[in-house]
Amino acid sequence: MDATTGSTVRVTGLVRRFRAGTEPITAVDEVSLEIAAGSVVALTGPSGSGKSTLLHLVGAIEQADSGTVTVDDVEVTALRRAALARYRQRIGFVFQRYHLLPALTVLDNVIAPVLPRRGRVDPVGRARELLDAVGLAGRERSLPTQLSGGQQQRVAIARALMGEPRLLLADEPTGNLDSTTGGQILDLLLDLRDRHGMTILLATHERAIAARCDRLVRLGDGRIVEDVDLTDGEDPADTYDRVSRLRL
Ligand SMILES: Nc1ncnc2c1ncn2[C@@H]1O[C@H](COP(=O)(O)OP(=O)(O)OP(=O)(O)O)[C@@H](O)[C@H]1O
Ligand SMILES: [Mg+2]
Repeated sequence: MDATTGSTVRVTGLVRRFRAGTEPITAVDEVSLEIAAGSVVALTGPSGSGKSTLLHLVGAIEQADSGTVTVDDVEVTALRRAALARYRQRIGFVFQRYHLLPALTVLDNVIAPVLPRRGRVDPVGRARELLDAVGLAGRERSLPTQLSGGQQQRVAIARALMGEPRLLLADEPTGNLDSTTGGQILDLLLDLRDRHGMTILLATHERAIAARCDRLVRLGDGRIVEDVDLTDGEDPADTYDRVSRLRL
């Protein structure tokens, strides 16, 4: 398989407003974006620029006020109930604040998303493999509260990958990790993309992470203020230098 087996994402004129106190805030303001199947896109921008909100809209966790999100041939913003639930099951989502189920062990947290589905080949085996891949072999029986923030984040990543998603939305997946562990998580994601095909949209504040993506989209006040292709054949050191000169 190749990288083109990931999902294609098309966002058109997307708007999401919030009412915080008396002042309305446009968290996502007329964003249009096309993401090629199999690409890895870094979503950057200062705190409050709309990264999480955009990910939530693409993942159908929040509803848009206007505009559309289309993933492959499905207009996600038009889905209702059962179809929406099916869509959410098909994608992988890593939340900024993990959202692990506190009463379940690490292993059960990873297996949880596929439990409603019948006929899967050995979910326990796959969950163990993923936990091993994120460096948590041996912690299967721990509870989330017994893990550090970075370890909980890695459980959340394993959980998001459990259903073999064609689209992974990850909100600062390496934000609570030291740079070595963060780099290893990105290695894992890029390797999965290369071997199985996956489109990845990830919010990040880190240059070292953004520099390894195919494209950098920077938000400012809910709008796209920069969109840079990082795949034009430069060596990784050049790309890192280039990203160093960009504002994140
Ligand atoms: N549920 C909500 N209610 C009210 N305002 C919200 C809500 N969620 C987000 N906002 C506002 O929308 C704007 C964008 O927030 P968002 O969380 O998307 O930013 P972000 O880029 O992810 O920031 P960070 O880097 O801090 O995670 C901010 O002004 C935020 O205060
Ligand atoms: Mg955020």
